[in-house]
Amino acid sequence: MRHSNTRLEHTSPEGRGVQAFAPGRVNLIGEHTDYNDGLCLPFAVERGVTVTAEPAPGTTIEAHAEDLGERDSFELGAESGAGDGWRLFVRGAAAELRREGIELRACRLTISGDIPRGAGLSSSAALCVALCLALCEIAESRPPKRVPLARLCSRVENDWTGAQTGLLDPLASLCGERGRAVRIDMRGPQLRPVPLDLRGHQLAVLDSGASHDLSADSGYNERREECRAACRALGIESLRDATSGESLPEPLNRRVRHVISENERVDATVAALEQGDLAEVGDLLDASHHSLRDDYEVSVPEVEGAVETCRQAGALGARIMGGGFGGSVLALFPPEAQLPPGAVSVEPGPAARLL
Ligand code: GLA
Repeated sequence: MRHSNTRLEHTSPEGRGVQAFAPGRVNLIGEHTDYNDGLCLPFAVERGVTVTAEPAPGTTIEAHAEDLGERDSFELGAESGAGDGWRLFVRGAAAELRREGIELRACRLTISGDIPRGAGLSSSAALCVALCLALCEIAESRPPKRVPLARLCSRVENDWTGAQTGLLDPLASLCGERGRAVRIDMRGPQLRPVPLDLRGHQLAVLDSGASHDLSADSGYNERREECRAACRALGIESLRDATSGESLPEPLNRRVRHVISENERVDATVAALEQGDLAEVGDLLDASHHSLRDDYEVSVPEVEGAVETCRQAGALGARIMGGGFGGSVLALFPPEAQLPPGAVSVEPGPAARLL
């Protein structure tokens, strides 16, 4: 990401406005590995969230979620205490930036997006990243670098919305590159771009229609707790260090098996892409899906239906994507295939940026 001085010319009497865009993401493979210090292979997509900030007098931040027709306003320094849904991201982003010592200024925020919410494309990380970039730019402050900024966004989700999500989504939004996925080793984290040469094949997402929920009382947080329990039982810090979970009771043994095998599938996918073996990539997507369905148990009937629809349409592989319990399915189609109705083709796009 580049810190640019480009500003939107704007008519506001208090000065000029700025605009930031952050993309959503697709995770090619490596699911439920990020919070286990593991591997994943996401890419930023073209769609995302745009936040416009205009300077305002006083000490109030006013926010308007255009697509929802909803508003919020709060005093800088008094972010907590109220709000739900998208408001928590605005308040949390402002509070966490201020905690980093960034002096924010009063402004009017307008939020809009072209990414479906709750479809597993990480609209919430896109929202958080775009908010942070816009809030810093309007305050003429340099935003944190991308890894600390991803951690900050993760804290906003964890501490403000109660979803214990990891670094995958904000990092993918901040590190996107046209034509490339990024292999992320969450130990570090270490990032390595991986060219996504699909030789005419298409990746597409199909919304299962079941909106996923990663909030405090969701199955997502339950899986995280199971991973912590498995670590305690194995006497290790993180499941990245696990070599086998077979000694553990049900279902922890299967949770560990998923994490170990999914990490292996990430590197197998990188190798298959390097060799141009798209059939193998398809098989790995299928294997990931089976593991997420049977061992990690994050699928639901609507998702199984969407996977089946993709297979019927000739997909070489299809799998549940993101946190699970709903959301979108990702599928790889051969060049001649016709995408099933509702499927949207996805390609790697650039990272979050000021417009
Ligand atoms: C959600 C979370 C991520 C990651 C995925 C599962 O998208 O936000 O941090 O855990 O689920 O891979």
